[in-house]
Amino acid sequence: MALEYRSDDCDRYRMEYADPHREIEPIENEIAVVDAVLEMLDECGGLPHTRYDGEKMLAHRRAVRELFEIPWTAITPRMQRLLYAVNAIIQPPNMLAAGIFCGNTFISNAGAAVGPGACYTAMQLIGIEIKPEEAERAERNVRRIDPTGVARIVAGDAVEVVADFSEPIHALYLDADGTGGRGKDIYEDILEAGYDRMPPGSVVMAHNSVNAAERLKPYLKFVRDPAHFRVSLNVVFDREGLEVSVK
Ligand SMILES: C[S@@+](CC[C@H](N)C(=O)[O-])C[C@H]1O[C@@H](n2cnc3c(N)ncnc32)[C@H](O)[C@@H]1O
Repeated sequence: MALEYRSDDCDRYRMEYADPHREIEPIENEIAVVDAVLEMLDECGGLPHTRYDGEKMLAHRRAVRELFEIPWTAITPRMQRLLYAVNAIIQPPNMLAAGIFCGNTFISNAGAAVGPGACYTAMQLIGIEIKPEEAERAERNVRRIDPTGVARIVAGDAVEVVADFSEPIHALYLDADGTGGRGKDIYEDILEAGYDRMPPGSVVMAHNSVNAAERLKPYLKFVRDPAHFRVSLNVVFDREGLEVSVK
């Protein structure tokens, strides 16, 4: 089932990439928009429920603001909340995130299980970044929030790291831009590398379903095919967008 959630203000809701912590809208709006997405996912059977701890989410947000070095990010507050909420609801034991730059996208997912926003115990939360210097920065950032090592960064090509991960993958977050000319088309290769180890109920979240829609056409065609994923929802509430696909 291929669905779309579109907020009325998706064209007007904008962030400054270099100023990620600035409030863009009243928090009640942000919560209402994300709740609407979660309800849509719940109604079509993509999520077991819509409940997550809003106070823990804000504790996570504060920790990232205080502890992370973020030169820029395209993760809007709405997107940060949605990623946190989906992870808090499905509670993936193993979560892999591909193309995580300074680690902000990774921790938006992993923050549901580590640090002050933790609401469950995970097994392995792995962020994958191909540029060694970015992977080092991301690892420094993540260590400040999670001293346990459950959340960690691997420097490498996400296609290879996902292919080599022999455990079940309960959540996969895609954001790699295929540095070296490949572009966002690399999402297909990363998903293909892990698809067979994704059990029923597992989730793939692909950033840039809106602003890279053209480049992602074959990827989106694959995940919107009910033979591959039960539900696939295109979340259009900022300029980047997120395709949430549930197996
Ligand atoms: C544009 S950034 C994502 C930024 C993110 N959307 C944010 O707002 O913070 C994409 C990252 O993917 C990384 N990347 C590109 N190809 C990759 C690959 N094959 N495996 C892992 N990381 C990759 C790049 O080095 C870059 O840091």
